[in-house]
Amino acid sequence: MKIRKAVIPAAGLGTRFMPATKTIPKELFPLVDRPILLYNIDEIVAAGFDEVILVIGPTKQAIEKFFDPSFKDIKVTFVRQEKALGLGHAVLTAAEAVGNEPFAVLLGDELMLSKPGQPSGIAQLANVFAETGLSAVAVMEVPERDVIKYGIVDVEEKGPNLWKVLTVVEKPAVADAPSRLALPGRYVFTPEIFEYLRHTPPGKNGEIQLTDGMTQVAKKQGMLALKLDAIRFDAGDKLGYLQAGIEIGLNHPEIGPALKKYLHERFGRDK
Ligand code: G1P
Repeated sequence: MKIRKAVIPAAGLGTRFMPATKTIPKELFPLVDRPILLYNIDEIVAAGFDEVILVIGPTKQAIEKFFDPSFKDIKVTFVRQEKALGLGHAVLTAAEAVGNEPFAVLLGDELMLSKPGQPSGIAQLANVFAETGLSAVAVMEVPERDVIKYGIVDVEEKGPNLWKVLTVVEKPAVADAPSRLALPGRYVFTPEIFEYLRHTPPGKNGEIQLTDGMTQVAKKQGMLALKLDAIRFDAGDKLGYLQAGIEIGLNHPEIGPALKKYLHERFGRDK
């Protein structure tokens, strides 16, 4: 079955960007002149999906305004997560809008930029699903000290850049991490995950964790992990956001050459 819908959880409070996020949702922060969210939508449109379901919190009206009726790239639907009970709960909030079909999830503060002519990040996972019928999630290798920031997978190797997922642990201590393969926020799930999330109690940090639902899918239906051919930025982090802005700026037809010249001059001064 073809993936038709993508869920973007965008209900986070943006605490890492206070005070800027007091009035502006982080998903609308610009990278040069386009909001972060539009890059996620580009990734979805490039994969040929029909609909984006945005999970927004009570303070995110600006996101709804952004997608006024003039926005025609793809159908956009909104669902509200009234309480910040965790990422698993945010995804579960979209259950009715998704229905009983496989779907994609893209975390709104994670950027995946693929090379021109290459399938987009989420399209690469949709392709694995199309071939196998199994849930498929992106993984990336992180340094040992960073395992505490991510969902980490325990895996069995299947082939180059491809693993079978055994379990998923949310933000483990370094000593407890089953591997250094972390989740950068791109997923394709079969719909059973909604049933598991409905019965998932609060886990790490008292939140309903998507990773706990993922472990159930991995054990019962099976799940694959794939290293994507794309550059990833954590745009929800101050440094990652600036790095993404520079990368996109350097490739921007209007300001790219001048930005490059500025950076050369700027670092010349530091020598
Ligand atoms: C969330 C997920 C985590 C994932 C991460 C990617 O954590 O819970 O599994 O690895 O996003 O950014 P958060 O960064 O929201 O704390």
